[in-house]
Amino acid sequence: MPAGKHILLIIGGGIAAFKSLDLIRRLRERGATVTPVLTRAAEEFVTPLSVSALTAARVYRDLFDLTDEAEMGHIELSRAADLIVVAPATADLMAKMAGGHANDLASTLLLATDKRVQIAPSMNVRMWDHPATQRNLATLQSDGVLVVGPDEGDMACGEYGPGRMAEVPAIIDAVDRALSDGPLNGKHVLVTSGPTHEPIDPVRYIANRSSGSQGTAIATALRDLGARVSFVTGPADVEPPTGVDVIRVETAAQMQDAVTAALPAGAAVFAAAVADWRVTSASNSKIKKTKDGLPTLSFAENPDILAGVSALREGRPQLVVGFAAETDDVIKNATAKRKRKGCDWIVANDVSPETGIMGGAENDVTLITADGSEDWPRMGKSQVAQKLAAAIADALG
Ligand code: C5P
Repeated sequence: MPAGKHILLIIGGGIAAFKSLDLIRRLRERGATVTPVLTRAAEEFVTPLSVSALTAARVYRDLFDLTDEAEMGHIELSRAADLIVVAPATADLMAKMAGGHANDLASTLLLATDKRVQIAPSMNVRMWDHPATQRNLATLQSDGVLVVGPDEGDMACGEYGPGRMAEVPAIIDAVDRALSDGPLNGKHVLVTSGPTHEPIDPVRYIANRSSGSQGTAIATALRDLGARVSFVTGPADVEPPTGVDVIRVETAAQMQDAVTAALPAGAAVFAAAVADWRVTSASNSKIKKTKDGLPTLSFAENPDILAGVSALREGRPQLVVGFAAETDDVIKNATAKRKRKGCDWIVANDVSPETGIMGGAENDVTLITADGSEDWPRMGKSQVAQKLAAAIADALG
């Protein structure tokens, strides 16, 4: 929806800067005005002339360009935009933003702005994985900066991994969302999804049949209503949505740590199928077949993440939503579960094998609240997600 919108595009100095030329074209095709800012390093990758030609606008390059200050100071430049997009966002630009530096035009604009900022990180995989970059990323996310990508794939430097700048259509989608006036704009929502894997030894684990599709659909629907979504996912069959903060975990213990780190949130939806037990006899080396008999596994109960968050005295999300996958007496058991876990709502469903719900495309749910229960007709998991996201938006006001 960028028609008539004004986007300040900061192009950082990375190999992906060439994609920003296509981004400019696509944004303008959709009716947006693009004001370009090039960092010094960006000029090594794209020329101010080509950027100026594509935007049909002047290119801002230097903080100390007095003509700029006479025409429009950096404060006005950063505030005249509806949205600031940084693409590519290099490790250095992210570090400057996280640290609040203002030592060139780009960083000064980013510090001076009162508008939403969206970044498309792009860097070598080792730079992306470095704890400093991950720290900066967490800081930026908690400052409300929207992050799109990076993608995983072959990199210009010959390595493979996360660090490639998101593709232009994904950046455009994120721009659309950032500019839309969704009811959850400015709200942070946490979603857990997928199964957990509990290791027996380095090659074996205990898992369950959750595909992660309902949780993924919920994260997508919340995102589409404008929420900033932290998506904590176990090893699922489906890819996480774009435009959400993805935190991948394997075990229930890791999921609990990730949930704690992602709070505070306005609402939290616990759609993950968390393993009830972990193997306490897990071995660091592969358990061998022996003639002496079969191995014995011992178990300990996993932390109940939903119950823990529901019971928080400080920082409890305003709305906590749990799921109850049951096979018998669905409503009765789910109603009791809502009370036991201390959550506000429970989405109950019958996962008996004949329903085809576990791993299937449809769901048949009952929403249980303190006021009673509401039976929803059987529908696609995306429709369930949209209905739930709309109810969450209503509840958060
Ligand atoms: O007790 P049960 O596993 O049926 O509870 C299901 C609900 O509790 C789901 O919302 C699930 O995500 C959440 N849960 C959790 N941590 C656990 C077990 C379940 O967050 N250890």
